[in-house]
Amino acid sequence: MTSQLSETGLLSAIDRERLPHHIAVIMDGNGRWAQKRRLPRIAGHRAGMRAVRQGVEACRRLGVPYLTLYAFSVENWKRPQAEVDLLMALLREFLKKEMRQMNRYRIRLRVIGRTRELPKAVQQDLRKAIEATKRNTGLTLSLALNYGARAEIVDALRKLVRKLKRSGKGEVSERAISQALYTRGLPDPDLLIRTSGEMRLSNFLLWQAAYAELWVTDTLWPDFTRRDLYQAVLDYQKRERRYGGLGLS
Ligand code: FPP
Repeated sequence: MTSQLSETGLLSAIDRERLPHHIAVIMDGNGRWAQKRRLPRIAGHRAGMRAVRQGVEACRRLGVPYLTLYAFSVENWKRPQAEVDLLMALLREFLKKEMRQMNRYRIRLRVIGRTRELPKAVQQDLRKAIEATKRNTGLTLSLALNYGARAEIVDALRKLVRKLKRSGKGEVSERAISQALYTRGLPDPDLLIRTSGEMRLSNFLLWQAAYAELWVTDTLWPDFTRRDLYQAVLDYQKRERRYGGLGLS
């Protein structure tokens, strides 16, 4: 649902008492954005990096405490090597360029995914950025890198089984699984945004998004602005969340 409200209009229509605590985003459409302009795909990814700033800024301005971005999936290795290399280079550039701003705005960086399979230089930059921002108390920005929700659940179950075998203690419960996921410590997302019109979860946060509200826009990720995020939050606030109940109190 889109409205004609301006960015300021949207901002003032949002109820700050009922903000989503955690917004997760499937950033899709970089390739199509580039194709429409007869540009190489990587130009779309570069423009996508600018949209990342918009999303982060919007959450920061609103006071949303957690934002998680699907930046590279376990399936993305199947893309041409040159595109994968450029995506990794862009990520390193982002970490280098944004570090000062992240500390200025007290943003804490976190990564979810099979990070040990990422190129060593990327792992090193990520470690540095996480370390440099770990005391920040503002927005927690989680980047999903080499992430797949099924892989995450497999890894979590392996962890639980190892613990059980080692100590003979432990349980298999929703709580234990949640705590063994990469997202341990993060609240479940309340709002899941997907750009470029596709109605799919694409193996993103399958466990955690069980009760998330989905908001899909036709806007391609590189065109995504703060205004789009405010619109998503406003629409989210108009929905009734019932968690399987009747919503009566
Ligand atoms: C999906 O578009 C996007 C990605 C696979 C990568 C996301 C990367 C960025 C937004 C840029 C860098 C990000 C950070 C955090 C530095 P697509 O290529 O699948 O688009 P298409 O479906 O139109 O081909």
